[in-house]
Amino acid sequence: MKISIGSDHAGFKAKKVLVKKLNEVYEIIDCGTMSEDPVDYPDYASRVTEAVASGNADKGILICGTGIGMCMAANKERGIRAALCYDMETAKLSRLHNDANVLCMGARILDAGRMVRIAKVWMETDFEGKRHKTRVDKIMNMER
Ligand code: RB5
Repeated sequence: MKISIGSDHAGFKAKKVLVKKLNEVYEIIDCGTMSEDPVDYPDYASRVTEAVASGNADKGILICGTGIGMCMAANKERGIRAALCYDMETAKLSRLHNDANVLCMGARILDAGRMVRIAKVWMETDFEGKRHKTRVDKIMNMER
């Protein structure tokens, strides 16, 4: 599985940890940012979501201070279902019920170790389909 990952300055340190850990299992495309110099999170959300929407990556991960700005920006891209997750349960359910293809997390809320555990469970959980597919299809139809 190929994962595109990106952060702003607030998420940079956590992204570094995630890239190192997830690299052991997945192919990682690091879309930046590459330092703690202030940047605008929508620029990095675009890079990650374009990789997912075009099929260059299977899934995406975005980190900013809270995860909120990244999630808002990511959901503007066609084909993206970004979920802001703060624990294992929301991460699992965002895959099972919502078929989320981008995971957003907040580095000012969670420590990096917890983010790695959340990302792993998110990656390993499959979409349940069935009644949830009908609902997700309705979300995607709102893009027309
Ligand atoms: C940057 O200070 C901060 O606003 C950003 O990382 C994020 O939390 C926005 O939602």
